[in-house]
Amino acid sequence: MGRYSNVLAAPFVSAAGVTEGMRVLDVGCGPGALTRELVRRLGADSVTAIDPSPPFVEACIASCPGVSVQLGDAQAIPFPDASFDAALAQLVLHFVPDPVRAGTEFYRVVRPEGVAAACVWDFAEEMEMLRYFWDAALAIDASAPDEARTLRFGREGEVVGWLEEAGFVDVTETTLKVDSTYADFDELWAGFLHGIGPAGAYCVSLDDDDRERLRTELFERIGSPTGQLHLGARARAAVGRRP
Ligand SMILES: C[S@@+](CC[C@H](N)C(=O)[O-])C[C@H]1O[C@@H](n2cnc3c(N)ncnc32)[C@H](O)[C@@H]1O
Repeated sequence: MGRYSNVLAAPFVSAAGVTEGMRVLDVGCGPGALTRELVRRLGADSVTAIDPSPPFVEACIASCPGVSVQLGDAQAIPFPDASFDAALAQLVLHFVPDPVRAGTEFYRVVRPEGVAAACVWDFAEEMEMLRYFWDAALAIDASAPDEARTLRFGREGEVVGWLEEAGFVDVTETTLKVDSTYADFDELWAGFLHGIGPAGAYCVSLDDDDRERLRTELFERIGSPTGQLHLGARARAAVGRRP
């Protein structure tokens, strides 16, 4: 997923309207795809990042020297009220158990006139890597946990609704398109075998025979590529202002 989140960060930061001089919180920073882009634009002193996963916090610290990175949950952000000019969450919201509570927390830590922004992949349609994967999985297993069915916020208006429910105003939605090139099908397939994320976890949970069936199904659905392949991805981003 990193190959997509790394290139998503720049258009997301632009869509959020982040400008020099702002103090920005990256919520659910993971290994730091968004954090690095924020540092590039604002400098390390202006960026703070949190994530509930200790290995991700360690990885983000390693890749973003000088940034304040700490353990923290979107549902209980460990900072005082109005600490930031902006709070951003890239590809996080769909993993948060209580997003309403998280919205309240975003509102609390952003100063009046500050902004909150979040983006989530369009799982149902144009996140091709996941769409091909889950369509292949569903072809061999009707109960496969397709993220378009199991996760919220990838559809039009869902992130907007989250921000508005939290109290943000002037909320706008935009779509962000990125893509990635794989040397060959094996490179794509190898990514799932790490077991990371819902698709990876599903892939490694299968027995060898079913995994091979899934591999073959995916290969054929992608068009039985013999060399390089390109896949596109679309995320929906929404941005709102705290009145
Ligand atoms: C797909 S990764 C995205 C990481 C990073 N934002 C990026 O764009 O690469 C999802 C991240 O959400 C984090 N996460 C999951 N539940 C969370 C929660 N309740 N609060 C904050 N972050 C959470 C995970 O630990 C993980 O780092």
